[in-house]
Amino acid sequence: MRSNVVFSAKNISKYFGHGKKIVCAVDDISFDIADGEIVSIVGGSGCGKSVLAKIMLGLYSPDRGTFLYKGKPIVDTRDHWNEVQSVFQDPFGCFNQFFSIRTQLKDAFGILKNKPSKQEIEQRVDEALLAVNVKPADIEGKYPFELSGGQMQRMLLARIFALKPKVLIADEPTSMVDACVRANILDYLMKLKESLGMTIVFVTHDIGLAYYVSDRIFIMHESKIVEAGKPEDVTQHPKSEHTIRLLEDIPDINREWIKK
Ligand SMILES: Nc1ncnc2c1ncn2[C@@H]1O[C@H](COP(=O)(O)OP(=O)(O)O)[C@@H](O)[C@H]1O
Ligand SMILES: [Mg+2]
Repeated sequence: MRSNVVFSAKNISKYFGHGKKIVCAVDDISFDIADGEIVSIVGGSGCGKSVLAKIMLGLYSPDRGTFLYKGKPIVDTRDHWNEVQSVFQDPFGCFNQFFSIRTQLKDAFGILKNKPSKQEIEQRVDEALLAVNVKPADIEGKYPFELSGGQMQRMLLARIFALKPKVLIADEPTSMVDACVRANILDYLMKLKESLGMTIVFVTHDIGLAYYVSDRIFIMHESKIVEAGKPEDVTQHPKSEHTIRLLEDIPDINREWIKK
């Protein structure tokens, strides 16, 4: 195996339920993701994107096939989360309503094996807030319910800037926000990649967004990867009918990103 491979999936499948009610959420999928790559997983609702994202996070293990992180199976999720972090769709679900934002940003460091000193944590939280254009004073003493959805989404990204993971799994991080905030979030993700050299797996149903941010796009349909390639190739010369359908569904606001 190449030494710069971060995730390696070989014929992985994941099932839920049993007997006649069995659902195959991930069906015989294989891929490699290299260090520093931005890969988008694109597909319609229910095609298995989030289950695949959760396998990468070590929240599910595949029922068949092998899934490796840096050449090894994920055994200890705590070890794994030391390097691999996530941003999910619902920012409110990721923060506790009863603790201040700042407290929770600081507590997030508890996930790291080598927790920085109190002083360094305060400093890294301030830097992270500034990285997402929030003045630390503006959220001082504030609770999640006092912030808008867009601001909370930024707090999630601030958490990532603070923890500086090697790998980020972003599962539809922009689906709850308006176009302007979405563009901001994508810019922050790019900034993260550039400043930290992070590997990013970006899950979305919008191939237009994927085109804008990715080095490579995987198209998913009914639990399988039906096409994979560079954004230009996948968008200009789609091979799968499912890719063509996703291209037809691009919201007008994102269409301009795809150069004709
Ligand atoms: N914990 C679970 N238990 C049972 N079925 C699940 C579970 N998680 C996902 N599924 C099913 O797996 C399929 C893929 O789901 P998901 O990965 O969430 O889709 P999406 O592409 O929209 O993120 C769906 O049919 C979903 O109902
Ligand atoms: Mg999902």
